[in-house]
Amino acid sequence: MVDNIANGSAGKDFVQPTHFAFDDESNSEIEKVLAKYPPGKQASGSLPLLFIAQGQMRRQTGSAWIPRVAMDAVAHRLGMPPIRIYEVATFYLMFNTTPVGRYHLQLCTTTPCWLRGSDDVVAACRKFTGIEGWHETSADGLFTMTEVECLGACVNAPILQVNDDFYEDMDAARTEELLAALKRGEVPKPGSMIGRMTSAPEGGPTTLTTLNFLPAE
Ligand code: FES
Repeated sequence: MVDNIANGSAGKDFVQPTHFAFDDESNSEIEKVLAKYPPGKQASGSLPLLFIAQGQMRRQTGSAWIPRVAMDAVAHRLGMPPIRIYEVATFYLMFNTTPVGRYHLQLCTTTPCWLRGSDDVVAACRKFTGIEGWHETSADGLFTMTEVECLGACVNAPILQVNDDFYEDMDAARTEELLAALKRGEVPKPGSMIGRMTSAPEGGPTTLTTLNFLPAE
């Protein structure tokens, strides 16, 4: 596992930083997180602290990933053996143990998204970015494409997750528009691209449209 972290799960060459220290913004977030747990239970902060470390890397480098020295910093802060943090960071897909582009495109291709056109979304991403494989980064360093399993938003499939945001009801044209905006430095509003209200049916809600369902007194 340690070799995997050191060399990159995709076998790509990249440099592991030799130093990582939480900055003021991260330290302030960490204080709030750890205040939620009773003494002796700080290990429960593993996931949030890894997110904080990944967020700091995004702020400082433009790439949201967690180098090994950042995992070590999390372990140190929580008083845990580093291996226990490595185990967590390498288990969950939302933690990137290798560098990613400024915009991490996470494409759901599980059955509901596939039935609703995820192949078109994938093709549009490949065409726009020039990326051929998975977990590869575009030549301009802006985009990384990763295939993911169900994101839990099937009702508005197909879903394209960009960094931490879900773009829903996607198709090829909407995908190209979104990527072009990101390339210009704009971040379009996430959510349904066809104006659905949360997860209502296409065309609008069909039930509970009035308060008349309340029982008569
Ligand atoms: S199958 Fe894509 S979000 Fe569930």
